[in-house]
Amino acid sequence: SSSLPAGYTLRPLRKNDYSAFLDVLRVLTTVGDIAEADWSDRYDWMAARSEEYFVLCITDDTDRVVAVGSLIVERKFLRHLGSVAHIEDIAVAKDQQGKKLGLKMIHALDDIAEKVGCYKAILDCSDKNQGFYEKCGYRLAGVQMVGSS
Ligand code: ACO
Repeated sequence: SSSLPAGYTLRPLRKNDYSAFLDVLRVLTTVGDIAEADWSDRYDWMAARSEEYFVLCITDDTDRVVAVGSLIVERKFLRHLGSVAHIEDIAVAKDQQGKKLGLKMIHALDDIAEKVGCYKAILDCSDKNQGFYEKCGYRLAGVQMVGSS
């Protein structure tokens, strides 16, 4: 895939991305008020599972986080102890949308899925984002269900 626009960088999440990362996530859904100590605990929990949790950021030329995305590797028994990549929590800051940052984020996560040997990558999204994921090379498959709890 082609490179990011000039000045932008793709890198793993860092602990000091605290407020910038959460602000970008707020574009997607409710985040709540998360104390820095609690952020830090969750960050450490994920970092201790670095073969399972991959959280990426795209930053601008001032190192401000402008796009985020995650990949979680699910280990299975089937497919000869196969793994499935779950693409989660993709968000691009409002003023940065439409610059292909979302597309680059998905491609970067796809690369990780391939490197760690996942036999497929899947995600859930709303109807309005279907076109975006189709541009990223995904296709509609199955029906998403949510439990009542
Ligand atoms: N419907 C149809 N096409 C779209 C849409 C859409 N909603 N959004 C972008 N596209 C197209 C673009 O026009 C572009 O097409 P082109 O290559 O023909 O020019 C292509 O998809 C790539 O678009 P990007 O510029 O990479 O999109 P952007 O950086 O704005 O990111 C995103 C898209 C992530 C959906 C962003 O708008 C966003 O953060 N939205 C709010 C949060 C959100 O809904 N996140 C996704 C949740 S689903 C999940 O996390 C698994």
